[in-house]
Amino acid sequence: MKMYDIIQKKRDKCKLSKEEIEYFVNGYVKDEIPDYQSSALLMAIYLNGMTDDEITNLTMAMANSGEMLDLSGIEGKKVDKHSTGGVGDKTTLIVAPIVASVGCKVAKMSGRGLGFTGGTTDKLESIEGYQVELPRKDFINQVNQIGISVISQSENLAPADKKIYKLRDVTATIESIPLIASSIMSKKIASGADYIVLDVKTGEGAFMKTFDRAKELANKLVNIGNLAGKKTVALITNMNIPLGYEVGNSLEVKEAIKVLNGEGPTDLTNICIELATCMVMLCKNIDKSKAEELVKESISNGSAFNKFKELVEYQHGNVSWIENPDLFPKAKYNIEVSSNTSGYIYKMNAEKIGKISCSLGSGRERKEDKIDYSAGITLLKKTGDFVNKGDVLAILHTNLEDSIDVAKEKYLEALEISDLKPEKEKLVYDIVM
Ligand code: URA
Repeated sequence: MKMYDIIQKKRDKCKLSKEEIEYFVNGYVKDEIPDYQSSALLMAIYLNGMTDDEITNLTMAMANSGEMLDLSGIEGKKVDKHSTGGVGDKTTLIVAPIVASVGCKVAKMSGRGLGFTGGTTDKLESIEGYQVELPRKDFINQVNQIGISVISQSENLAPADKKIYKLRDVTATIESIPLIASSIMSKKIASGADYIVLDVKTGEGAFMKTFDRAKELANKLVNIGNLAGKKTVALITNMNIPLGYEVGNSLEVKEAIKVLNGEGPTDLTNICIELATCMVMLCKNIDKSKAEELVKESISNGSAFNKFKELVEYQHGNVSWIENPDLFPKAKYNIEVSSNTSGYIYKMNAEKIGKISCSLGSGRERKEDKIDYSAGITLLKKTGDFVNKGDVLAILHTNLEDSIDVAKEKYLEALEISDLKPEKEKLVYDIVM
């Protein structure tokens, strides 16, 4: 087999066989196929697409390129969730303990933030002492004992995806539905859960800018999951507006604690209830209304919050910070951004807000970059709110004095203020199962 022929075939819009796809994935992981040929193939896939069979074969080849996590040592059904990435998306911190508190098993490997989107692992590490690396044996034992563990994704989980993702990032081939679908599902399939709930984000702050593209991606993801024998459900949700009012690692943990205590903002609370309901419905094989009742009860009776504390304690985090979130260190500068005009916030650009938060220190451009857990943005006004000239729109939290002026300017640019009141946006557009 020759890589040249595989590229030519995809360039000419022909279907690749399972063997050709495996030849590419395995050869690229072993450094036997160079970046320039892999880039050419990725661009041909980007331009000409893939059939469902090809996407499934690519997914399985990437999943099989590293460790396939064996969760058979955990008693009961295991359920996983994944978000395609958003701004202020701290749902895993909330949903995982809710679901575990009603008896489902959550053995979760989470990623780190890259670019303008955050990652659960970084958020958890903002809690003093929290260990995101655990030996497999301890990970499995913990889930058997308390029903939940959230650790960082192992380097050897779908290594082909890691390598291909990096190449996509520099060859303008990220926004391809077959490539995104296989990237996400290879990791989910290698993670070993029985059920998967996906949060496919659409809008300004997401990879899928339109509902139609998001729906196409959701259909592919669900199809691949089901073909791999894992019952999969995808929610298509709004990412025009950041989720909740906090963006940045420890700020988001504090907001997650509020939701777990029943005191969180409506948008974030509602989306977490939807996601958790789908997870419980699948895992317990019960109808949606019964699942929703269990989820809401776990928040109102405190069991979800207690499960989060148990998780933190088990992974050596300082639980007193969870009980008293004022103990999280604060940034040195906490700067107000005021409106220079009156009107309704007509639009907020979630992607720009995510990037501003990174510039304040909350994110990383490269894997090796250090992040500042206390940095980020507290949004005081969101889309649909009326503001008067001089009202405070947001607070920028940072230790980087030099970043403040530009961040303030950019924050104002990220908002569109108008005389028109925007229509209320839906939070969940559709559910694909
Ligand atoms: N998330 C992933 O894991 N992969 C993609 O390609 C896009 C989002």
